[in-house]
Amino acid sequence: MIAPISSSQQLSYIRAGDPYAPKLVFLHAFPLSSEMWRPQIEEFSSQFDCIAPDFRGIGESTPFETRPSFTMIADDVRLLLNHLHIFQQVTLCGLSMGGYCAFEFVRSFPDRVGKLILCDTRPDADSEQARKTRNELLEFALRNNASAVAEKMLPKLLGGTTRNEKPDVVGRVKELAAPHRTEHLAAMIQALRDRRDSTELLPNIKVPTLVISGEEDEISTPELMRDMALHIPNAKFVEIEKAGHLSNLENTPDFNAALREFVGK
Ligand code: MLT
Repeated sequence: MIAPISSSQQLSYIRAGDPYAPKLVFLHAFPLSSEMWRPQIEEFSSQFDCIAPDFRGIGESTPFETRPSFTMIADDVRLLLNHLHIFQQVTLCGLSMGGYCAFEFVRSFPDRVGKLILCDTRPDADSEQARKTRNELLEFALRNNASAVAEKMLPKLLGGTTRNEKPDVVGRVKELAAPHRTEHLAAMIQALRDRRDSTELLPNIKVPTLVISGEEDEISTPELMRDMALHIPNAKFVEIEKAGHLSNLENTPDFNAALREFVGK
């Protein structure tokens, strides 16, 4: 679906379920799209109104026109909710880059979040080394296609168990990462590189929060995520077995069970 969220901008998004039911908003990882949330939308749309936007330059969403930032992406999510006349509190679920967006959303619009789910993400900004690697990926993205970017990232995106034993998941991730235009990926890499440190925000997150980590996640390790949960006053930590960074796709049954326990019904 497409929402015109301003006079010059649109966002593509998935919406499924009962429009009068409680809201579950899913924020996607890099370099994927809202489609990465299909297994959760299938599971939860019988009891929730599930909404998953595509960030700027992804799917049919308008690309960044000025300096890319998560402040902008979080505001896009707010504008989408406004467009859909959703003004009650939502449960916000972000994985990795989606988590970075969730931090910005909570910081800017705390009254609009009732519960928070932070999956395979991290609160700190990029280190000097991470910024260097990010710049290399940016250069690579400008010289190659989206599939090559995904191929390069795959060893970090997926855990060893998935890479060795689940060719269907590997194939699905490649498929999800393939359609993007690389100049849009490059803009998103800038937003990732320049994102602010959200460590100070953690003690101020007042809503019930679920922190989920794949046990084999090398980008946001379980140790880092357990520590993050300790700094959020009302947080619960769950580790998903045999899953890496994309835990919702790598071990969907356990991921959905953790979500179900947290959101109820
Ligand atoms: C993601 O999965 O969204 C990215 O790996 C996030 C990052 O690179 O920081």
